[in-house]
Amino acid sequence: MNGNKRPDTMERITTLELANAFIDEQVAELRAQIGDKKVLLALSGGVDSSVVAALLIKAVGKQLVCVHVNHGLMRKGESEQVVEVFGKQLDANLVYVDATDRFLDLLDGVVEPERKRKIIGNEFIKVFDEEATKLEGISFLAQGTIYPDILESDGVKAHHNVGGLPEDMQFELVEPVKLLYKDEVRVVGDALGLPHNMVYRQPFPGPGLGVRCLGAITRDRLHALREADAILREEFEIAGLAGKVWQYFIAVPDTKSVGVRDGKRYEGWPAIIRAVNTMDAMTATIEEIDYSVLHKITDRITHEVEGINRVLYDLTPKPIGTIEWE
Ligand code: XMP
Repeated sequence: MNGNKRPDTMERITTLELANAFIDEQVAELRAQIGDKKVLLALSGGVDSSVVAALLIKAVGKQLVCVHVNHGLMRKGESEQVVEVFGKQLDANLVYVDATDRFLDLLDGVVEPERKRKIIGNEFIKVFDEEATKLEGISFLAQGTIYPDILESDGVKAHHNVGGLPEDMQFELVEPVKLLYKDEVRVVGDALGLPHNMVYRQPFPGPGLGVRCLGAITRDRLHALREADAILREEFEIAGLAGKVWQYFIAVPDTKSVGVRDGKRYEGWPAIIRAVNTMDAMTATIEEIDYSVLHKITDRITHEVEGINRVLYDLTPKPIGTIEWE
Protein backbone atom coordinates (compact mmCIF):
# COMPACT_ATOMS: atom_id res chain seq x y z
CA MET A 1 0.00 0.00 0.00
CA ASN A 2 1.09 3.55 -0.68
CA GLY A 3 2.37 4.89 2.66
CA ASN A 4 1.05 8.34 1.79
CA LYS A 5 -2.58 7.25 1.49
CA ARG A 6 -4.77 7.27 4.55
CA PRO A 7 -6.46 3.85 4.77
CA ASP A 8 -10.26 3.99 4.48
CA THR A 9 -10.47 1.97 7.68
CA MET A 10 -8.47 4.44 9.74
CA GLU A 11 -10.66 5.86 12.48
CA ARG A 12 -10.71 9.63 13.04
CA ILE A 13 -8.79 10.37 16.24
CA THR A 14 -11.26 12.31 18.37
CA THR A 15 -10.73 11.00 21.91
CA LEU A 16 -7.92 10.62 24.40
CA GLU A 17 -8.18 6.82 24.11
CA LEU A 18 -7.76 6.89 20.34
CA ALA A 19 -4.91 9.38 20.66
CA ASN A 20 -3.13 7.18 23.19
CA ALA A 21 -3.52 4.15 20.93
CA PHE A 22 -2.03 6.17 18.06
CA ILE A 23 0.84 7.34 20.27
CA ASP A 24 1.65 3.77 21.42
CA GLU A 25 1.63 2.51 17.85
CA GLN A 26 3.80 5.37 16.58
CA VAL A 27 6.30 5.09 19.43
CA ALA A 28 6.81 1.40 18.56
CA GLU A 29 7.14 2.18 14.84
CA LEU A 30 9.52 5.08 15.42
CA ARG A 31 11.74 2.92 17.63
CA ALA A 32 11.78 0.20 14.99
CA GLN A 33 12.58 2.68 12.21
CA ILE A 34 15.20 4.71 14.05
CA GLY A 35 16.95 2.06 16.15
CA ASP A 36 19.91 3.69 17.89
CA LYS A 37 20.42 6.38 15.24
CA LYS A 38 19.93 10.14 15.49
CA VAL A 39 17.05 12.27 14.15
CA LEU A 40 17.04 15.98 13.34
CA LEU A 41 13.96 18.20 13.55
CA ALA A 42 13.39 21.88 12.79
CA LEU A 43 11.16 22.85 15.69
CA SER A 44 9.26 26.06 15.00
CA GLY A 45 6.94 25.78 17.97
CA GLY A 46 3.93 25.42 15.67
CA VAL A 47 1.43 22.63 16.30
CA ASP A 48 2.75 20.08 13.82
CA SER A 49 6.46 20.26 14.58
CA SER A 50 5.74 20.40 18.33
CA VAL A 51 3.64 17.23 18.22
CA VAL A 52 6.29 15.46 16.14
CA ALA A 53 8.95 16.54 18.64
CA ALA A 54 6.93 15.27 21.60
CA LEU A 55 6.30 11.92 19.87
CA LEU A 56 9.97 11.49 19.04
CA ILE A 57 11.09 12.47 22.53
CA LYS A 58 8.77 9.77 23.88
CA ALA A 59 10.10 7.23 21.39
CA VAL A 60 13.83 7.90 21.23
CA GLY A 61 14.57 10.62 23.82
CA LYS A 62 17.95 12.26 23.31
CA GLN A 63 18.49 10.63 19.93
CA LEU A 64 16.28 13.46 18.68
CA VAL A 65 18.05 16.77 18.08
CA CYS A 66 15.63 19.69 17.81
CA VAL A 67 16.83 22.91 16.24
CA HIS A 68 14.81 26.03 16.99
CA VAL A 69 15.75 29.04 14.88
CA ASN A 70 14.51 32.30 16.34
CA HIS A 71 14.41 34.63 13.34
CA GLY A 72 13.45 37.58 15.51
CA LEU A 73 9.99 37.65 13.92
CA MET A 74 8.24 35.37 16.39
CA ARG A 75 5.35 36.57 18.51
CA LYS A 76 6.01 37.60 22.09
CA GLY A 77 6.97 34.62 24.25
CA GLU A 78 7.00 31.98 21.50
CA SER A 79 10.70 31.12 21.38
CA GLU A 80 10.81 31.31 25.16
CA GLN A 81 8.00 28.74 25.31
CA VAL A 82 9.85 26.36 22.99
CA VAL A 83 12.89 26.52 25.26
CA GLU A 84 10.75 26.12 28.40
CA VAL A 85 8.60 23.22 27.17
CA PHE A 86 11.10 21.24 25.10
CA GLY A 87 14.43 22.25 26.60
CA LYS A 88 13.39 22.26 30.26
CA GLN A 89 10.15 20.35 30.86
CA LEU A 90 10.68 17.57 28.31
CA ASP A 91 14.47 17.69 28.69
CA ALA A 92 14.98 17.43 24.93
CA ASN A 93 18.22 17.73 23.08
CA LEU A 94 17.47 21.28 21.89
CA VAL A 95 19.72 23.58 19.91
CA TYR A 96 18.40 27.14 20.26
CA VAL A 97 19.72 29.64 17.73
CA ASP A 98 19.00 33.32 18.20
CA ALA A 99 19.50 34.58 14.65
CA THR A 100 17.56 37.83 15.17
CA ASP A 101 20.43 40.11 14.15
CA ARG A 102 21.17 38.14 10.99
CA PHE A 103 17.58 38.39 9.81
CA LEU A 104 16.99 42.01 10.77
CA ASP A 105 20.29 43.13 9.25
CA LEU A 106 19.40 41.44 5.95
CA LEU A 107 15.91 42.94 6.02
CA ASP A 108 17.19 46.43 6.73
CA GLY A 109 15.61 48.84 4.23
CA VAL A 110 13.78 46.10 2.29
CA VAL A 111 10.28 47.32 1.43
CA GLU A 112 8.96 44.87 -1.15
CA PRO A 113 6.86 42.10 0.50
CA GLU A 114 7.94 39.26 -1.80
CA ARG A 115 11.59 40.14 -1.30
CA LYS A 116 11.08 40.20 2.45
CA ARG A 117 9.53 36.72 2.32
CA LYS A 118 12.33 35.40 0.12
CA ILE A 119 15.04 36.79 2.39
CA ILE A 120 13.39 35.29 5.47
CA GLY A 121 12.84 31.89 3.79
CA ASN A 122 16.37 31.66 2.37
CA GLU A 123 18.05 32.79 5.54
CA PHE A 124 16.03 30.29 7.56
CA ILE A 125 17.31 27.45 5.41
CA LYS A 126 20.86 28.80 5.66
CA VAL A 127 20.81 28.99 9.44
CA PHE A 128 19.24 25.54 9.74
CA ASP A 129 21.80 24.08 7.32
CA GLU A 130 24.66 25.57 9.29
CA GLU A 131 23.37 23.98 12.47
CA ALA A 132 22.73 20.65 10.74
CA THR A 133 26.29 20.64 9.36
CA LYS A 134 27.71 21.07 12.87
CA LEU A 135 25.94 17.95 14.08
CA GLU A 136 27.42 14.55 13.56
CA GLY A 137 25.90 11.17 12.91
CA ILE A 138 22.41 12.31 11.93
CA SER A 139 20.58 9.67 9.87
CA PHE A 140 17.00 10.91 9.85
CA LEU A 141 15.15 14.16 9.27
CA ALA A 142 11.77 14.46 11.00
CA GLN A 143 9.05 16.65 9.53
CA GLY A 144 5.65 17.77 10.70
CA THR A 145 3.96 16.87 7.41
CA ILE A 146 0.22 16.37 7.94
CA TYR A 147 -2.37 14.77 5.65
CA PRO A 148 -3.65 18.02 4.08
CA ASP A 149 -0.04 18.78 3.06
CA ILE A 150 0.00 15.49 1.15
CA LEU A 151 -3.44 16.05 -0.36
CA GLU A 152 -2.70 19.64 -1.38
CA SER A 153 0.82 19.31 -2.68
CA ASP A 154 3.28 16.73 -3.87
CA GLY A 155 3.80 15.42 -0.37
CA VAL A 156 6.29 18.08 0.63
CA LYS A 157 5.19 20.14 3.60
CA ALA A 158 3.41 23.23 2.27
CA HIS A 159 5.26 26.41 3.25
CA HIS A 160 7.83 24.10 4.75
CA ASN A 161 10.86 25.81 6.10
CA VAL A 162 13.31 22.98 5.66
CA GLY A 163 13.88 22.72 1.97
CA GLY A 164 17.50 23.21 1.25
CA LEU A 165 19.64 20.89 3.27
CA PRO A 166 23.20 20.54 2.01
CA GLU A 167 23.34 18.20 -0.99
CA ASP A 168 25.82 15.84 0.60
CA MET A 169 23.48 15.23 3.50
CA GLN A 170 21.28 12.29 2.83
CA PHE A 171 18.56 11.91 5.38
CA GLU A 172 15.75 9.42 5.52
CA LEU A 173 12.45 11.14 6.36
CA VAL A 174 10.48 10.50 9.54
CA GLU A 175 6.91 11.81 9.32
CA PRO A 176 4.85 10.32 12.13
CA VAL A 177 1.74 12.51 11.70
CA LYS A 178 1.56 12.48 7.92
CA LEU A 179 -1.77 10.64 7.82
CA LEU A 180 -3.46 12.89 10.38
CA TYR A 181 -5.74 15.85 9.89
CA LYS A 182 -5.07 19.00 11.89
CA ASP A 183 -7.80 18.33 14.48
CA GLU A 184 -6.30 14.88 15.10
CA VAL A 185 -2.80 16.31 15.51
CA ARG A 186 -4.26 18.57 18.20
CA VAL A 187 -5.93 15.67 20.05
CA VAL A 188 -2.62 13.79 19.95
CA GLY A 189 -0.79 16.92 21.19
CA ASP A 190 -3.22 17.14 24.10
CA ALA A 191 -2.68 13.47 24.92
CA LEU A 192 1.08 14.03 24.87
CA GLY A 193 0.62 16.74 27.51
CA LEU A 194 1.71 19.73 25.41
CA PRO A 195 0.44 23.14 26.64
CA HIS A 196 -3.04 24.08 25.45
CA ASN A 197 -1.90 27.34 23.84
CA MET A 198 0.69 25.45 21.81
CA VAL A 199 -1.73 22.77 20.64
CA TYR A 200 -4.57 25.17 19.79
CA ARG A 201 -2.53 28.04 18.43
CA GLN A 202 -3.87 29.97 15.48
CA PRO A 203 -2.13 29.73 12.11
CA PHE A 204 1.01 31.86 11.94
CA PRO A 205 2.83 32.55 8.67
CA GLY A 206 6.39 31.24 8.29
CA PRO A 207 7.77 34.79 7.81
CA GLY A 208 6.05 35.66 11.07
CA LEU A 209 5.74 39.26 12.16
CA GLY A 210 7.90 40.14 9.14
CA VAL A 211 4.76 40.37 6.97
CA ARG A 212 2.89 42.38 9.61
CA CYS A 213 5.55 45.02 10.18
CA LEU A 214 4.64 46.62 6.88
CA GLY A 215 7.27 48.06 4.57
CA ALA A 216 10.88 48.22 5.70
CA ILE A 217 11.15 46.58 9.12
CA THR A 218 12.71 48.60 11.90
CA ARG A 219 13.48 47.24 15.35
CA ASP A 220 11.42 49.85 17.19
CA ARG A 221 8.31 49.31 15.06
CA LEU A 222 8.73 45.52 15.23
CA HIS A 223 8.93 45.79 19.00
CA ALA A 224 5.76 47.92 19.09
CA LEU A 225 3.97 45.38 16.85
CA ARG A 226 5.00 42.46 19.07
CA GLU A 227 3.82 44.21 22.24
CA ALA A 228 0.51 45.30 20.68
CA ASP A 229 -0.07 41.79 19.33
CA ALA A 230 0.54 40.32 22.78
CA ILE A 231 -2.06 42.69 24.26
CA LEU A 232 -4.57 41.73 21.56
CA ARG A 233 -4.02 38.04 22.31
CA GLU A 234 -4.35 38.59 26.06
CA GLU A 235 -7.59 40.51 25.68
CA PHE A 236 -9.03 37.96 23.23
CA GLU A 237 -8.25 35.28 25.81
CA ILE A 238 -10.02 37.27 28.55
CA ALA A 239 -13.05 37.98 26.32
CA GLY A 240 -13.39 34.29 25.38
CA LEU A 241 -12.58 35.02 21.74
CA ALA A 242 -9.26 33.17 21.56
CA GLY A 243 -10.76 29.75 20.88
CA LYS A 244 -13.53 31.18 18.72
CA VAL A 245 -11.85 33.44 16.17
CA TRP A 246 -9.80 31.66 13.50
CA GLN A 247 -6.99 34.18 13.17
CA TYR A 248 -6.35 37.54 14.82
CA PHE A 249 -3.34 39.77 14.86
CA ILE A 250 -1.98 43.29 14.58
CA ALA A 251 -0.34 44.88 11.57
CA VAL A 252 1.65 48.11 11.90
CA PRO A 253 2.17 50.23 8.79
CA ASP A 254 5.15 52.46 8.22
CA THR A 255 3.15 55.69 8.60
CA LYS A 256 2.89 58.10 11.47
CA SER A 257 0.13 60.45 12.47
CA VAL A 258 -0.06 63.14 15.05
CA GLY A 259 -1.54 62.57 18.48
CA VAL A 260 -1.42 63.90 22.04
CA ARG A 261 0.03 62.16 25.07
CA ASP A 262 0.53 63.72 28.49
CA GLY A 263 -0.42 67.11 27.08
CA LYS A 264 2.28 66.93 24.42
CA ARG A 265 2.29 66.26 20.70
CA TYR A 266 2.88 62.53 20.22
CA GLU A 267 3.56 61.12 16.79
CA GLY A 268 3.03 57.41 16.44
CA TRP A 269 2.11 54.50 14.21
CA PRO A 270 -1.40 53.05 14.00
CA ALA A 271 -1.96 49.45 15.15
CA ILE A 272 -4.45 47.71 12.85
CA ILE A 273 -6.51 44.86 14.29
CA ARG A 274 -7.37 41.97 11.95
CA ALA A 275 -9.74 39.28 13.27
CA VAL A 276 -11.17 36.84 10.74
CA ASN A 277 -13.09 33.61 10.48
CA THR A 278 -12.69 31.14 7.65
CA MET A 279 -12.80 27.45 6.79
CA ASP A 280 -9.88 27.29 4.42
CA ALA A 281 -8.29 30.79 4.32
CA MET A 282 -9.49 31.21 0.71
CA THR A 283 -12.32 33.49 1.81
CA ALA A 284 -12.78 35.08 5.21
CA THR A 285 -15.36 37.04 7.16
CA ILE A 286 -14.86 39.58 9.92
CA GLU A 287 -15.47 38.75 13.55
CA GLU A 288 -17.91 41.23 15.07
CA ILE A 289 -16.05 42.13 18.21
CA ASP A 290 -17.97 43.92 20.97
CA TYR A 291 -17.15 47.60 21.20
CA SER A 292 -16.33 47.22 24.88
CA VAL A 293 -13.58 44.75 23.99
CA LEU A 294 -12.30 47.03 21.22
CA HIS A 295 -12.24 50.00 23.59
CA LYS A 296 -10.26 48.06 26.18
CA ILE A 297 -7.74 46.86 23.59
CA THR A 298 -7.39 50.40 22.23
CA ASP A 299 -6.89 51.82 25.69
CA ARG A 300 -4.23 49.28 26.61
CA ILE A 301 -2.30 49.46 23.34
CA THR A 302 -2.22 53.26 23.19
CA HIS A 303 -1.16 53.54 26.83
CA GLU A 304 1.20 50.58 27.10
CA VAL A 305 2.96 50.40 23.75
CA GLU A 306 5.69 52.89 22.96
CA GLY A 307 5.26 54.35 19.49
CA ILE A 308 1.57 53.51 18.89
CA ASN A 309 -0.95 56.34 19.08
CA ARG A 310 -4.00 54.96 17.25
CA VAL A 311 -5.83 51.64 16.98
CA LEU A 312 -7.86 50.78 13.86
CA TYR A 313 -10.13 47.83 13.13
CA ASP A 314 -9.95 46.34 9.65
CA LEU A 315 -13.51 45.53 8.51
CA THR A 316 -12.54 44.15 5.10
CA PRO A 317 -13.56 40.59 4.25
CA LYS A 318 -11.55 38.33 1.94
CA PRO A 319 -12.05 38.98 -0.89
CA ILE A 320 -11.29 41.80 -1.37
CA GLY A 321 -8.69 42.11 1.36
CA THR A 322 -6.30 39.22 1.89
CA ILE A 323 -5.99 38.05 5.49
CA GLU A 324 -2.43 39.35 5.85
CA TRP A 325 -1.58 42.88 4.79
CA GLU A 326 1.48 41.75 2.86
P1 XMP B 1 -3.71 35.61 2.81
O1 XMP B 1 -3.00 36.81 3.32
O2 XMP B 1 -3.18 35.13 1.50
O3 XMP B 1 -3.41 34.47 3.86
O4 XMP B 1 -5.20 35.78 2.76
C1 XMP B 1 -4.06 33.23 3.93
C2 XMP B 1 -3.49 32.43 5.09
O5 XMP B 1 -2.13 32.05 4.83
C3 XMP B 1 -1.27 32.55 5.84
N1 XMP B 1 -0.01 32.96 5.20
C4 XMP B 1 1.14 32.28 5.23
N2 XMP B 1 1.44 31.12 5.84
N3 XMP B 1 3.67 31.31 5.02
C5 XMP B 1 2.72 30.64 5.74
O6 XMP B 1 3.02 29.60 6.32
C6 XMP B 1 3.43 32.48 4.39
O7 XMP B 1 4.30 33.06 3.75
C7 XMP B 1 2.08 32.99 4.50
N4 XMP B 1 1.47 34.08 4.02
C8 XMP B 1 0.19 34.06 4.45
C9 XMP B 1 -2.01 33.70 6.47
O8 XMP B 1 -1.58 33.95 7.80
C10 XMP B 1 -3.45 33.22 6.40
O9 XMP B 1 -3.74 32.33 7.45
